[in-house]
Amino acid sequence: MSKNISHLSGRQGLKNNLFEKIGHLSEHEGTLSKEQKIGLAEEYLIGKANITGTISAYDFTREENRGKKAYVCNGSACLLAGTQDAVREKLGKHLKEEEIGNMTCLGRCHENSAFNFNGTNYSALSDADFDEVMQNKKPKTDNYYVDHNGLQILTGDFPGLDTFYTTLKDSLAEGPDAVLQKIKNSGVRGRGGAGFSMGFKLEACKNEPGNEKYIVCNADEGDPGAYSDRYLLEQQPHLVIFGMIAAGYAVGANWGVIYTRAEYPESVDIVQNALDQLYDLNILGENIMGSDFSYDLKVVKGLGAYICGEETALLNSLEGQRPEVRTRPPYPTQQGLFNKPTVVNNVETLATLHYILTHTGKKYAEHGTEKSTGTKLVCLDSFFNRPGMYEVEMGTPLRTVIDEMGQGFKQPVKALHIGGPLGGLVPMSKIDNLSIDFESFAQEGFLLGHASVICIPEEYPLVQYIEHLFEFTAHESCGKCFPCRLGSTRGKEMFQKAQTEGYKMDRELLDDLIDTMERGSLCALGGGVPLPVKNALQYFEDELKQYFN
Ligand SMILES: Cc1cc2nc3c(=O)[nH]c(=O)nc-3n(C[C@H](O)[C@H](O)[C@H](O)COP(=O)(O)O)c2cc1C
Ligand code: SF4
Repeated sequence: MSKNISHLSGRQGLKNNLFEKIGHLSEHEGTLSKEQKIGLAEEYLIGKANITGTISAYDFTREENRGKKAYVCNGSACLLAGTQDAVREKLGKHLKEEEIGNMTCLGRCHENSAFNFNGTNYSALSDADFDEVMQNKKPKTDNYYVDHNGLQILTGDFPGLDTFYTTLKDSLAEGPDAVLQKIKNSGVRGRGGAGFSMGFKLEACKNEPGNEKYIVCNADEGDPGAYSDRYLLEQQPHLVIFGMIAAGYAVGANWGVIYTRAEYPESVDIVQNALDQLYDLNILGENIMGSDFSYDLKVVKGLGAYICGEETALLNSLEGQRPEVRTRPPYPTQQGLFNKPTVVNNVETLATLHYILTHTGKKYAEHGTEKSTGTKLVCLDSFFNRPGMYEVEMGTPLRTVIDEMGQGFKQPVKALHIGGPLGGLVPMSKIDNLSIDFESFAQEGFLLGHASVICIPEEYPLVQYIEHLFEFTAHESCGKCFPCRLGSTRGKEMFQKAQTEGYKMDRELLDDLIDTMERGSLCALGGGVPLPVKNALQYFEDELKQYFN
């Protein structure tokens, strides 16, 4: 990254944000014209090459996106459901081939047949509904189960603004140290994948010198199979916003940003409406609720790049830079957005704060397990009899989630891909060893991640699925380090060739490749994709051995 560009971009700050401007300018044509690029470079005092580098990194600004009208979801869940060729064919009756692109993933993993048309997402449409949508007549939302197994920290009914924000008034009276202490007492760990202590991160940021600090909500939920952040943003926006305000108060930040996805258009509008409402009520802005705490919050829409879920790539993105991963140290809490101390937390992590500050951190820590406190949202895909979004106490057996909440599978399934593309591939024989918490997954050599569950049906060839994972990584790689940039493409080629050209893979070569990716990659994209590949090689040796010499 360039600290100089961070600084230059920071001069305009979040109010006249370069990244957002690039997004707005590309809305009409799908990318920027040469004149627009020059105009931006002059306005922000940065090189035209920097602007070109940025727009070429995103699905929805790069030149290939010009003139696209519809996007077909090509995420893992829709791929495994086998629904997308039919969607493309139906769209082809109304649009030219070059007007149809791809999006990964629309978060409709519970229904599939997902696509975006004219800025709205659709899934599982009947033929009649499909035709109406194409004539711009009939918006249609999706349906999924929302349930829990006891405690509702994240899925409860909204009590109304007055009651809900009483906790904020109380917290402002208690002071930032008390708020931080409650969060530390809760033991809540990051839900974005790594499970890092939220209290530790907030405290580190609070202790940094300076009076310009940021809270960033990582709402770039790109993991195919996951739609829990989408649920929170659309159905529980105040849980997320409250978390942003409380985190800002605890560390002494003056700005918060919710970085969400172009692939979730409804989320952006819903959160924006909620923010507008709160500004009107002085729950955001200057001297919130009569206190001496002032805090601004905005929602920024991403432009289609999975790597922006990685927190430092996200910060570069927000600055209008190419979304490449940064080396650490310095950590975001030391030098984050515009080089200022910044906390990046996941949507679900932030959404826990309302319960914690209402009921105390100790009360929160009474739920779940000793090291994985609280509850977790788990998303089940369309292979389950009850696809949906379930809030379970940490420590709940995976078997309970599958049999009781999801009520089993619609068809035979041989493995579960849990925790996104970088999560483990769990064979059915391991299900009874796992419970929904960080420790149990780690002990068994898997990863809880964001706890999305994608089913791999019995008849789906794993060789194809691994090719898909490498292809996904190759497409989404930020390109900064070679083990990921080159390794993902070489892996894709190996698994592709193994299927089409009578070519047999060299096991030693593959082991070297995944070892290099795992050990040499700068971030967990290149470093993480070897896990499901290794799981497949270990647990499905009989199926895969035919592809090796
Ligand atoms: C390739 C990649 C993608 C990621 N995607 C997300 C994401 O979509 N949402 C998220 O919260 N964290 C994601 N993360 C993790 C973030 O880098 C970071 O750890 C997280 O936002 C911190 O928030 P938490 O502590 O609340 O989990 C991703 C990491 C990597 C390496
Ligand atoms: S592992 Fe991949 S995504 Fe991560 S820094 Fe390296 S090239 Fe970028």
